[in-house]
Amino acid sequence: MGHLTGEVSYSKGLEGVVAAITSIAVIDGEAGKLIYRGIPIELLAEHSNFEETAYLLWFGDLPKKDELENLKRDLIEHREVPEELVDCIKKAPRDTHPMEILRTCVSMGGCFDTDKNDNSRGANIRKSIRLTAQMPTMVAYYSRARRGLDIVPPNSNLSHAQNLYYMLTGEIPNEEISRLVDVILILHMEHGMNASTFAAMVIASTLSDIYSAICGAISALRGPLHGGANERVLEMLQEIGSVENVEPYIMQAIKEHRRVMGFGHRVYKAYDPRARILKEYAERLSKEKKNTKWTQIAEKIEEVMIREKGKKGIFPNVDFYSGIIYNLLGFPKEVFTPIFAIARVVGWTAHVLEYLQSNRIFRPRALYNGPLDVEYIPIEKR
Ligand code: ACO
Repeated sequence: MGHLTGEVSYSKGLEGVVAAITSIAVIDGEAGKLIYRGIPIELLAEHSNFEETAYLLWFGDLPKKDELENLKRDLIEHREVPEELVDCIKKAPRDTHPMEILRTCVSMGGCFDTDKNDNSRGANIRKSIRLTAQMPTMVAYYSRARRGLDIVPPNSNLSHAQNLYYMLTGEIPNEEISRLVDVILILHMEHGMNASTFAAMVIASTLSDIYSAICGAISALRGPLHGGANERVLEMLQEIGSVENVEPYIMQAIKEHRRVMGFGHRVYKAYDPRARILKEYAERLSKEKKNTKWTQIAEKIEEVMIREKGKKGIFPNVDFYSGIIYNLLGFPKEVFTPIFAIARVVGWTAHVLEYLQSNRIFRPRALYNGPLDVEYIPIEKR
């Protein structure tokens, strides 16, 4: 019998359901706090860098000097992607979204992995590091090919953050930009049991491979209700066009019950701490670049949204200010969500590695509300 009987609880979208135990990160949605392995995100954004925070998320503690050096070396060593992938990137139709390329390249890259038939913890750690090293190359190669530019191979003298910027723009970033890219990556790296992380964990829980799990996570992140929102935010700012247009645009959106991209969150009912940090950087960068148009429009949207929806716990989320920063850095809007994935692959793989240590296949149930005892009617009588 397909339907459930007796006492059952149903939570649409699994809201409030606890599906795992983790020591990787915790979110206090009421207070607007995010903590990685016990360390508040603000401290990591101020003092840490991509490599160090990745080590923290994967292995539980901040690395000692030699541990950090080893990880940096590993990440640098595996940046290049197989020639066959470069071919695929160059030949892909130019209207393909970079998230589709990323999903395809991660899947294809898995076929070339020498550890592909090894699902041990050691092999999965090696695969996590290789995936993290290669994803920026996949995105940057395609992004440049799509824009008709020569691809820029990775530069082993640069950090992970610097190299990402370098491969996308062809320029070596100054200290300030390097720091900003590190901060962006740190803020996007991990966020508990979100849709894409859960997707990765569900796949991994069947003892499928980590490449399949990350393909699933990339696919989940792409949607506009999740990581795809950052691209939509910039489109919205462009559509609004001026500060004067904000009030009528937002009021109309609210009247029509449309979602305003970059606002709201299942867990945060206060200001997202990542958005607070990104807002400061967006304001600083826009003044430096003498282009304050997008931040002015964004601040006005924030004012109207908080006035209208703040009581319901709707505030800017991580996607609201990130797109403005990327735009000011000269990144094309279709790489905004891929940059999210480039950072979040650390959180995805950290959760998969953690969950596999005491794995149990995910297998929820559904309440059946269809008919029962339906007669089978032969095709000629239907
Ligand atoms: N704009 C306007 N109203 C909103 C928004 C928004 N962005 N978000 C939520 N609401 C309203 C809903 O209309 C609903 O109102 P109602 O109770 O009057 O019907 C109420 O707030 C609750 O909304 P839910 O859809 O139940 O919230 P849920 O937790 O399911 O959704 C989500 C969270 C998907 C993030 C939602 O806030 C949203 O669609 N935001 C816009 C897209 C976005 O920015 N996504 C990025 C999120 S961060 C990330 O994933 C990286």
